Amino acid sequence: MRISIIGTGYLGAVHAACMAELGHEVLGVDSDAAKISLLTEGRAPFFEPGLTDILAGNLDGGRLRFSTSIAEAARFAELHFVCVGTPQLPGALAADLRGIEAVMDELTPKLTRDCLVVGKSTVPVGTAALLADRLGRLAPAGITAELAWNPEFLREGFAVRDTLQPDRLVVGTSSARADAGLRDVYAPLLELGTPYISTDLATAELAKVAANAFLATKISFINAVADVCEAAGADVVTLAETLGHDKRIGRHFLSAGLGFGGGCLPKDIRAFVARADELGAADSVRFLTEVDEVNNARRRHAVDLARDLVGGSFAGRRVAILGAAFKPNTDDVRESPALEVAAAIRAEGALVRVHDPKAIDNARSKRPELDYCDEPEKACEGADVVLHLTEWKDYLELDPARLGSVVRATRILDGRNVLPLARWRDAGWTVRSMGRPSALSGSAGQRTAAVRLPPPCRSPSAGIVVTGAGRWGEGRRPRPSPRLLPRQPHQEPLPTSCSVTISDRLES
Ligand code: UGA
Repeated sequence: MRISIIGTGYLGAVHAACMAELGHEVLGVDSDAAKISLLTEGRAPFFEPGLTDILAGNLDGGRLRFSTSIAEAARFAELHFVCVGTPQLPGALAADLRGIEAVMDELTPKLTRDCLVVGKSTVPVGTAALLADRLGRLAPAGITAELAWNPEFLREGFAVRDTLQPDRLVVGTSSARADAGLRDVYAPLLELGTPYISTDLATAELAKVAANAFLATKISFINAVADVCEAAGADVVTLAETLGHDKRIGRHFLSAGLGFGGGCLPKDIRAFVARADELGAADSVRFLTEVDEVNNARRRHAVDLARDLVGGSFAGRRVAILGAAFKPNTDDVRESPALEVAAAIRAEGALVRVHDPKAIDNARSKRPELDYCDEPEKACEGADVVLHLTEWKDYLELDPARLGSVVRATRILDGRNVLPLARWRDAGWTVRSMGRPSALSGSAGQRTAAVRLPPPCRSPSAGIVVTGAGRWGEGRRPRPSPRLLPRQPHQEPLPTSCSVTISDRLES
């Protein structure tokens, strides 16, 4: 099928490359000439794992090209995906729809063939109906153009995978013809068994907004619980693990810490509240305002914790910030909690040095008042406190002993609750995290794991204590390197596997 993708930002560029990957002839269009020239050279205008490869492959294969001309798209395609941004309106909660309206107004009169126009942007419910009306009014005489809505659920950092192997496809249409058109587009994915939900325009629009609102609520829920953990001396990470084992709850999006950011969750919950208000349903989604507030409070709390660590004032202090992107595996700094914390600390008089593996350029243009470093060690040189705020894998691998030799004071705040605390503390660091006081004190914060015992431990008289080198591996499964301590008298024969409590403290 001949497809145009209008708007080649994080969503559109990925969608264009992926539609070509599915075998379609694709024209990507954007008004930003610099972006189009990068894409034409096979270079992604932002960091997204795997994107460059499929861009290059499909440009070479002749299935994908880019242009700044909407008129060219109007002539070329039988299906247009509209992927322009719908950011938060300045000074308001609602979404700014001017970009999407401008595209519709420019594209529609230029249409020269019957087509389907498919919105992918996240919009307030009711937008599609208004745009469908506009399409009908502005289309040239004799041209049948129909509107459909097909929200996108991709995550930055996994965008290619999420587009080519989506959890589900949601399609809102007003006719069987439009539905058939979208089934054609996604035929290769449907053959793989991807769930396909065919519905009306309003339900499709709401499906996206509701999904993001739910995810945001889940994160703020665990962050609210993290505050209670802090007050009660408990460990929110262990707590989230226990909740996650309940299949009705699930472990995803229960990682407490600095909270959510990015170009989607924050603005989508606000736009949802604004739209519900217009519809007279404000009371029903009032809790989302609280979700937003819990989230914003995380950033203030991180600043407070860091200030406490340096003795009550940032004035004249040096602060190292690890991470600027709103999450790992992206260079996106929109609504980045890390960057906001860095700026707030700078505003209190600290010298703030920021490191990020990919997002430094974007961070610098957004927050030019901060200092930026190419290496984490450089950012930490002479620091009075280190703040780990975006959980890039690189930071998990930092050597606390080595870093300890470059800082002025060995103090670290883990704003994402993923660092191996015991390792840092054993290397002499004062460690703080968000919602895990018991893990830090060592009195609780223990984890229990099923471990298959090596044969020497299966002796009927073996009593075992597993010590040292316990490491939390992928998926948070412990991979201890057991060392048998001197045998203790033991009455019962041990089974071939047992439950081992992993503790941060030897004495426990
Ligand atoms: C989000 C949704 O997850 C996608 O499904 C949706 O398509 C996308 O918005 C969109 O509307 O376009 P994304 O913004 O890429 O995707 O990021 P997420 O992976 O959802 O993370 C959002 C934020 O929540 C990040 O700052 C992350 O650090 C934070 N987060 C996530 C937590 O604080 N805790 C968690 O447990 C999970």
